[in-house]
Amino acid sequence: MQEMELLLNPQRKPVGEGAKLADFTREESRRVRDYHRKFREYSPTPLVSLLNLAKSLGLANIFVKDESKRFGLNAFKVLGGSYALGRVLARHLRTPIEELDVEGIRNGAFADKTRGLAFATATDGNHGRGVAWTARQFHCPAHVFMPRGSAAVRADNIRACGADCRITDLNYDDTVRLAGRQAGENGWIMVQDTAWKDYEEIPRWVMQGYTTLAGEALEQLRERGAESPSHLFLQAGVGSFAGAALGFFAAVPAGKPPAAVIVEPRNADCHFRSLAAGDGEPRAVKGDLTTMMAGLACGEPSTLSWEIIRDYAAAALSVDDHLAANGMRILAAPLPGDPRVVSGESGAVGCGVLERICSGPEAGTLRKKLGLDSGSTVLLISTEGDTSPEIYRDVVWRGRFPAPETRA
Ligand SMILES: Cc1ncc(COP(=O)(O)O)c(C=O)c1O
Repeated sequence: MQEMELLLNPQRKPVGEGAKLADFTREESRRVRDYHRKFREYSPTPLVSLLNLAKSLGLANIFVKDESKRFGLNAFKVLGGSYALGRVLARHLRTPIEELDVEGIRNGAFADKTRGLAFATATDGNHGRGVAWTARQFHCPAHVFMPRGSAAVRADNIRACGADCRITDLNYDDTVRLAGRQAGENGWIMVQDTAWKDYEEIPRWVMQGYTTLAGEALEQLRERGAESPSHLFLQAGVGSFAGAALGFFAAVPAGKPPAAVIVEPRNADCHFRSLAAGDGEPRAVKGDLTTMMAGLACGEPSTLSWEIIRDYAAAALSVDDHLAANGMRILAAPLPGDPRVVSGESGAVGCGVLERICSGPEAGTLRKKLGLDSGSTVLLISTEGDTSPEIYRDVVWRGRFPAPETRA
C-alpha cells in the first residue's frame, strides 16, 4: 500500500457558492482575539519561515505557526475551549462577550453568580487540558473523559489543572457520547470541540476560538510582505480546526483563496472517505482508530466543519504514521539557517507529507496535482509541541516510526 493517498476534492466550490463563512470572517476573528487578549497568558505565537527547506523542495517559502507556545499549554486547543467557556459565562452573567470581565471572574468577583456551573468534555488530551485550565481560572469544576489508550501524561496534565479526569475503555467517538450522557445526568455543561445534530452552538464557539491563530498568522504573513498563502496543509481529527482555519482564509476578501489540503491518519481518515464518497454526506470510520497522531484519532466529522471542508477543501490526504514522525524529525533538525520547531505527532504531519510530496518518488505527479511550484507559499500549523515527551523522544531521538526506506 502507498504511504499516502491523495484525493482531489470533486465537490470543491468557489467561495460564496457553498457553506456560509460569516462566523469566520476577519471581523469575527478580531472579536475573538480581543477576548483572548484579556488573558494575561495571551500573546501571538511565533510564525517562523523555513526558507531553506522551501528552497530545497522547490517552493517559494514554508511558514510554520508554532502553537507549542500557546498559553503555556503546549497546544492550540485552549483557544477554542477558553472562548466557548467565555461565551457560556457571558450568557450566564447576561453580558456581551466584549464586556466580559475575565480578570474579575478570575479574581473571584463573580463567584456567587457562577457557583453551580460545571463543565464536561471528552478529549484526546489537548482540548480537555484547555477546558480544564479555563474552568479552573473561572473557579468552575471540569469533568474530562479520555479514550482508551490515552497517554497517562496527558491525563496527568489535565488533573494538574484541577479537573476530574478519567481514561475510559471506549474509542474517541464513544467517549464523546459517554461524556454527553454524564453531562446530561449531572447537570454539567458539555463543552465539546465537535458538533452533531442539535449540538452546534458550543462547537461553533470552539471553532471561532481557533480563528485567533489564523488571524495572527495572516497578520504575521503580511508584516513580512507575504500575502495569504497559496497552500494550507491542515491536519484533521473531527475537522473543527481545519474547518475554522480554512473558513477564515477562504473568507479573506481579495485574492485567490489558498488550496487547503486536509491531512488525516490512515486509520481515522473520515474526511478523506467522506469526500471520496462524493454525495456530500459525511462518513464515519469505526473501530480502534489506531494512530500515533492521538489528536487526529477521530472517526466522525463534526457536522459544522464538514460542510466547510466539503465545499472548500482542495484535496485530502490519508497518510501513514511514519510521515508524522518524519515531520517531527525534520522540524527538530532543520536545515542550516532554518529555526527549530518542537512539534508533536499531530502537529508535524503537514511538514512530513509536504516533504514527501515534493521530494518522494511520486513528486512529479503529486506536485502537479496540488499546483505546488517555485511560486508556492505554504502555511503549516504545528498545532502542538511535545505534549507526550516520551513519544517525542522515542520518535526524534530513537527513530520510532521509521520511514520504510530506512528500515533494515
Ligand atoms: C494537536 C492537535 N492538532 C490537531 C487536532 C485536530 O483538531 P480537530 O479535532 O478539530 O480536527 C487536534 C485535536 O485534538 C490536536 O490535539
